Amino acid sequence: MNRNPIKNICCIGAGYVGGPTMAVIADKCPDLNIYVVDKNQSRIKAWNNNDLEKLPVYEPGLKEIIERVRFKNLFFTSDIIQNIRKADAIFISVNTPIKTSGLGAGKASNLRWVEACTKEIAEYAEGHTIVIEKSTLPVRTAEIIKKILNSKLNKNNIRKTFSILSNPEFLAEGTAIYDLEYPDRVLIGGEEEDAINQLKAIYEKWVDSKKILTTNLWSSELSKLVANAFLAQRISSINSISALCEKTGADINEVSRAVGFDSRIGAKFLKAGPGFGGSCFKKDILNLVYLSRYFGLKETADFWEQVISINKWQKERIYSIIVNKLFGNITNKKILILGFSFKANTNDIRESPAIEIAQYLLSEGANLFINDPKVDAEQIETSLNGIKGDLQKKDQNEYGNWSFEKDIYKAFRSADAAIIITEWEVYKTINWQKASNLMNSPAWIFDTRSIVNAEDVKSAGLEFWSVGNGNYI
Ligand SMILES: NC(=O)c1ccc[n+]([C@@H]2O[C@H](COP(=O)([O-])OP(=O)(O)OC[C@H]3O[C@@H](n4cnc5c(N)ncnc54)[C@H](O)[C@@H]3O)[C@@H](O)[C@H]2O)c1
Repeated sequence: MNRNPIKNICCIGAGYVGGPTMAVIADKCPDLNIYVVDKNQSRIKAWNNNDLEKLPVYEPGLKEIIERVRFKNLFFTSDIIQNIRKADAIFISVNTPIKTSGLGAGKASNLRWVEACTKEIAEYAEGHTIVIEKSTLPVRTAEIIKKILNSKLNKNNIRKTFSILSNPEFLAEGTAIYDLEYPDRVLIGGEEEDAINQLKAIYEKWVDSKKILTTNLWSSELSKLVANAFLAQRISSINSISALCEKTGADINEVSRAVGFDSRIGAKFLKAGPGFGGSCFKKDILNLVYLSRYFGLKETADFWEQVISINKWQKERIYSIIVNKLFGNITNKKILILGFSFKANTNDIRESPAIEIAQYLLSEGANLFINDPKVDAEQIETSLNGIKGDLQKKDQNEYGNWSFEKDIYKAFRSADAAIIITEWEVYKTINWQKASNLMNSPAWIFDTRSIVNAEDVKSAGLEFWSVGNGNYI
């Protein structure tokens, strides 16, 4: 059956995916009205802030789009019920973290937010509604969604029907706007041709139709998990080799380049670092592992689990190297952490390697000065289990403390070491002579991203270690 084209869209979840994705759709499709709803009122308030520097998500290019479309055809609101009611299509873009307790704890996705908003859709939707999975979900979640939606059909004398689509999001934080505007592909999984075509028509406003792939629901749900697993696998692969480079005198950047020149392998995602972070890679692999075990595929599960083990090991081996280089003792030493977000160009710190490294250094009694261009002290405090950033309160022999420092050169003053954890552009242009003049002696620079010029650091009189570089072990 051919229905009227989609006019009103509701997106449930105004997070790192819901906000930027809907902003780009609104920008590309001025004829659509898009309402992004969230139960978190302070998040909605932040999206509506007149000061575009205070949007809850930082992404290059995002504030310019928000300025163009907000209050025109893109609206952020807490009025969930009203916007479900009038929507022709609803994107589910809520969080799907790993369960922390109960059955499948530490492995399976927690679908309570998906279930809660699906119940609201079932209750309040009117007429025909296309429900679109935008969140990353375990395979066959659409079945659960369908059951919940069908449980409320035609109650209270309001006729309602639903179509369900899977439309996973492949954006990468830090380049979200570019990825949304120029996607490698858009994936739409579904069973009903009309619904698929309606969603396809929206993307066709700016995406070449050859790049819009359609599949069945289960292939679409699984492809998203597999894509993330493959990306994370490349990072763990290159990180495992970084350790071998350090032992053998090879240089990981040279190895990556030589390997990546092979067109069968390709150059992307071959940069060694402190381990992947972000809210997705670990949880999506855990999900894949859980599914594989559930279906009795032990070998598949073991294979993917190893990607996570290497990632953990990379962080552990980096902080062990730091402590060992500092004579095995960092109590009361001043250590500067350069970068707290999980990657450059985002303010997201979920699963950032900086958290685990900072926690470990604090447990060894270090005084940390933390700098990041976009992350604020409040986020850091939460991630460090509420330890207040107050160096005055530090007990001389016990757990360390930390302080946030916006000014990089102020932070270098009297530091014993600096650790580059995030590859922010600003850290690539540090004046190492100036830093060296301010630091204690001897002082160490640890470059976990291999982004600075080793000669500049060493000629400034600083000790240097760089990930995967056998010349600096
Ligand atoms: N962050 C990424 O880079 C990325 C990329 C691709 C896919 N994904 C997937 O997209 C989904 C969302 O990720 P995110 O990073 O945007 O998460 P997020 O935590 O930033 O945002 C989710 C939002 O949903 C809201 N929410 C939860 N339940 C709700 C309900 N019942 N009603 C209204 N609002 C509700 C929360 O308050 C929160 O603001 C996840 O499944 C994630 O795996 C994320």
